Amino acid sequence: MASQVALKAAVAIVVVAAMVGGACCHPPKVPPGKNVTAACDGKWLDAKGTWYGKPTGAGPDDNGGACGYKDVNKAPFNGMAACGNVPIFKDGLGCGSCYEIKCDKPAECSGEPVVVYITDMNYEPIAAYHFDLAGTAFGAMAKKGEEEKLRKAGIIDMQFRRVKCNPGNTKIAFHVEKGCNPNYFALLVKFAAGDGDVVKVEIKESGAKEYVPLKHSWGAIWRLDSPKPIKGPIAVRLTSEGGTTIEQEDAIPEGWKADTIYTSKIQF
Ligand SMILES: *[C@@H]1O[C@H](CO)[C@@H](O)[C@H](O)[C@H]1NC(C)=O
Repeated sequence: MASQVALKAAVAIVVVAAMVGGACCHPPKVPPGKNVTAACDGKWLDAKGTWYGKPTGAGPDDNGGACGYKDVNKAPFNGMAACGNVPIFKDGLGCGSCYEIKCDKPAECSGEPVVVYITDMNYEPIAAYHFDLAGTAFGAMAKKGEEEKLRKAGIIDMQFRRVKCNPGNTKIAFHVEKGCNPNYFALLVKFAAGDGDVVKVEIKESGAKEYVPLKHSWGAIWRLDSPKPIKGPIAVRLTSEGGTTIEQEDAIPEGWKADTIYTSKIQF
């Protein structure tokens, strides 16, 4: 009897630890699911949901993450941020994509879908699909007033589906990354809506006739190393997963500077 009680207590400790830590305690390893694409629109899939950071925070303490965004606590993300696992984060191509998420159990779940943005990655092999959510986003799946109680569950079964992002009137923004110089150009593409991930980023320098593709670097960042100085104004052309192409002349001005955001006039 005593040993059974002790065993039960030990199991309870492991379970609680797994809930609190998320990554700890050797959870069963599950291979990741198939890449989720915009073509998956409309179909609900099962996932595990966990959360991290401050209970009502946006995830990482610095409001950043593996996509390179620096302000996921602000609009349009507003803390509705998620670390997607491999088939959702897709090495960064999934950055900024949107998902409806909801849960039915435990009882605190409202069952009503809420929209989250992929802003970060998680590589914990605990489920085919796994959203490690900002505290705010996890709580948003709860009935009103029961957010804190739902967060206490730590890990839950949830459902998700890919949806088009609708960042309101926000246009796509280009952040010329810190450390850029005339021979090294790195562009973070932010707030893309419409039919899926940005799969191609090209630029056309002042005076050039042809667009040149940037290489996907990491997160939502695309780069170009050039033996000759990259001259502005620079036109930018984006292609989405659904094959839509949009472009803007003079997206980046002549005297462009590193660590600067250039707001565009375009959106998918
Ligand atoms: C999933 O996406 C990643 C990142 O784009 C890619 O490298 C990988 O080949 C994709 N896998 C499949 C099965 O399409």
